[in-house]
Amino acid sequence: MAIRPILRMGAPVLRAVAAPVADVTAPAIRALADDMLDTMAAAGGRGIAAPQIGVSLRLVMFWAPLADPDSRSRDHAVFTILANPVLELVDPVEVEDWEGCLSVPGLAGRVPRARGLRYRGLDLDGAVVDRLATGFHARVVAHECDHLDGILYPQRMTDLGTLRFLDAADPVQD
Ligand code: NI
Repeated sequence: MAIRPILRMGAPVLRAVAAPVADVTAPAIRALADDMLDTMAAAGGRGIAAPQIGVSLRLVMFWAPLADPDSRSRDHAVFTILANPVLELVDPVEVEDWEGCLSVPGLAGRVPRARGLRYRGLDLDGAVVDRLATGFHARVVAHECDHLDGILYPQRMTDLGTLRFLDAADPVQD
């Protein structure tokens, strides 16, 4: 387990379409997940995708509020690891809210996202994860899965004028 450098916007791997994980139970994938977890925790992040530490594979992990989907409190969040996720829009009405990203440090912006989606993927035991997500939960999943297709949240923004710098006292950081 190790804290790895987090790649920042502009790194080519962040713009690439990541490859599927061939065997989610492989020890190398477990080791990758351990590094992602350490790196996310050290950075105080809510989610991370493998390309953010330079590995172009379809693996994400995140803390999301499953039972109380609009809560940003970490007290309500559940930890999920997802390999090879597939998203399906359930409620395509878009809602705008703040997002930040470990690969775009120090900034936050307003991002429109679909209100509800279904996501399916595998955990590291090879078990199927199949969930409906709304609100902030759906936002977190969509943000992390975007990383697997080479998309960072500023590319989803419709008004770059909302992009702002954060400081330590700012409540919107994720
Ligand atoms: Ni991100």
